Amino acid sequence: MFLKELSLIHFKNYEEARLEFGPAINCFAGDNGSGKTNLLDAIHYLSLCKSYFNPIDSQNIRHTAPFFVIQGIYSGNEKEENLYCGVKRGQKKVFKRNQKEYERLAEHIGAFPLVMISPADSELIEGGSESRRRFLDSVISQYDRRYLDQLIQYNRALSQRNALLRQFADSGQFDKQSLEVWDMKLIDHGAPLYEERKRFLAEFIPIFQQHYKQLSGSGETVELRYDSNLNDSAFAEALEQALPRDRSILHSTCGIHRDDLDFRMDGHSLRKTGSQGQQKTYLLALKLAQFDFLRLHHDADAAPILLLDDIHDKLDESRVKKLMQIIAEPRFGQVFITDTHANRLPLLFGELRINCRVFCVQKGAIIPVESDDLQPLS
Ligand SMILES: Nc1ncnc2c1ncn2[C@@H]1O[C@H](COP(=O)(O)OP(=O)(O)OP(=O)(O)O)[C@@H](O)[C@H]1O
Ligand SMILES: [Mg+2]
Repeated sequence: MFLKELSLIHFKNYEEARLEFGPAINCFAGDNGSGKTNLLDAIHYLSLCKSYFNPIDSQNIRHTAPFFVIQGIYSGNEKEENLYCGVKRGQKKVFKRNQKEYERLAEHIGAFPLVMISPADSELIEGGSESRRRFLDSVISQYDRRYLDQLIQYNRALSQRNALLRQFADSGQFDKQSLEVWDMKLIDHGAPLYEERKRFLAEFIPIFQQHYKQLSGSGETVELRYDSNLNDSAFAEALEQALPRDRSILHSTCGIHRDDLDFRMDGHSLRKTGSQGQQKTYLLALKLAQFDFLRLHHDADAAPILLLDDIHDKLDESRVKKLMQIIAEPRFGQVFITDTHANRLPLLFGELRINCRVFCVQKGAIIPVESDDLQPLS
């Protein structure tokens, strides 16, 4: 299954655009601010019903326009699928598959698997634990529908429990039994989520380490550790122990919503000691492992769409070349890459004898480039 056609109306800096893609590598080249990343984000919307960058849908509507529409036609297995995402200011987002509207967006997640690699991923290293949990959840929920449902239920129970803690403080009365109702729900939904995260990481980590080795070609060892309150004690016990603290700070301090991933290189914190290039390589290895994992676990064994934003960001030429060779392997399907230099990627692919389709992006207009038009690099 690959994205054959993409149409945009009033999406970010695009007034209107219609593009036809090839089933393998597609490159968007253009100056800063021309709209390359916005195209990747539109493709991200179609798979995951949301932007990779801005969670507020209305801010992705072209300034002053009343709505945006993103449409995609996917082709594969002798059938076509039509996806539609429409956002109107002040209204609920509408998402349709083959003209039929979803009741719950969660039903769509995982049907068109996708992996995004972007300079914004540095947030995974520099940001708080929330971004790392989001990464974990986004990988697992693209292949395990029950996981996402459990997570939604868990988060609901969590906000109810937090509300109750605040209510106890306001009223000056504490009712352990009514708190236990929410404790039970946290345990019912949280324990399977913890087990699934553990199971996932046990399979994921060796794939990730293999990718790091291949990309870096160097001797450093990378690790990824799962930190959870539940690593050392059962959920019920941990909740009991945390109760005095929860009551004093008025929110739940124990549970899988506090989980974290510890990124390490040669035994040290990656954030504190890794170079920019090493950190970027670590992130690339994480995302390529996500790709392999989703491909292996998707029902139809379909290759996810891979989006590579700003591929030269912090990588030296040899790592870019290695990465391009990896994504040209047959296990990869459709890939979209952005670069600020018009010829750099097509010439590299030419040198590696890999076919690619190139689009030149200029301030909201997109022009397909014929390979004869490419100029050698000076
Ligand atoms: N809601 C919006 N309405 C209109 N324009 C928008 C909106 N959101 C973003 N833009 C514009 O989109 C442009 C940025 O596009 P994008 O991030 O895709 O650029 P890019 O080609 O990836 O640039 P770079 O090479 O710097 O990464 C900016 O000019 C920005 O002002
Ligand atoms: Mg960009």
